[in-house]
Amino acid sequence: MERTLIILKPDTIQRKLIGRIIQRFEDKGLKIVGMKMIWINKELAYKHYEAHINKPFFNSLLEFITSLPVVVMVLEGPSVVEQVRKMVGNTDCKKADVGTIRFDFGLSIQNNLIHASESIQDAEREIKIFFKEEEIFSYDPNRYLPSE
Ligand code: CMP
Repeated sequence: MERTLIILKPDTIQRKLIGRIIQRFEDKGLKIVGMKMIWINKELAYKHYEAHINKPFFNSLLEFITSLPVVVMVLEGPSVVEQVRKMVGNTDCKKADVGTIRFDFGLSIQNNLIHASESIQDAEREIKIFFKEEEIFSYDPNRYLPSE
C-alpha cells in the first residue's frame, strides 16, 4: 500500500487548524499509520528541503519551519501521494483550487499550512527522515474490540 508524508506546519499549529486538517484525511478514508509532534531543527530542515537549499526563499523557509513545533504524519491508501496532493492544492494558497486545504485556509506561498510528498520516491525518502520503522504501525482499524 502506498504511503505519503504530511507535515502540518507552524502556521497550522499557530492557527489551531490541526484537527480540521486531519479530519479531511480521515473523511477521505485515508489511514493514519504514523503521527507525532516534533520541533524541526536546522539539520532536519536541510535534509527535508535539500532540493530548495539554493532557492532565494530558503533562509526564510528555514526560519519559518523551525519556528514552532509541527505535526508529522504518514498516511496510507491507494494512490495516496496523488490523492493527497490534490486535496492540498497549489503551493501558493492564492492559486490553489477552491475546496483544497490551501485555498480554504491560507493566502500565502510560504505559510501554506501543510507539506505533502510530491512523488512516491519523495515520500519514501521523506518518511525515512522523520520516522523510525517502529513508529509506523500496521493495524486493522476494523478489528474486534473487547467489551468490558
Ligand atoms: P512545501 O510544499 O513544503 O515545499 C517547499 C516549501 O517552500 C513550500 O511548501 C513553501 O512553504 C515554500 N516555498 C515555495 N516557494 C516559495 C516562494 N516562492 N517563496 C517562499 N516560500 C516558498
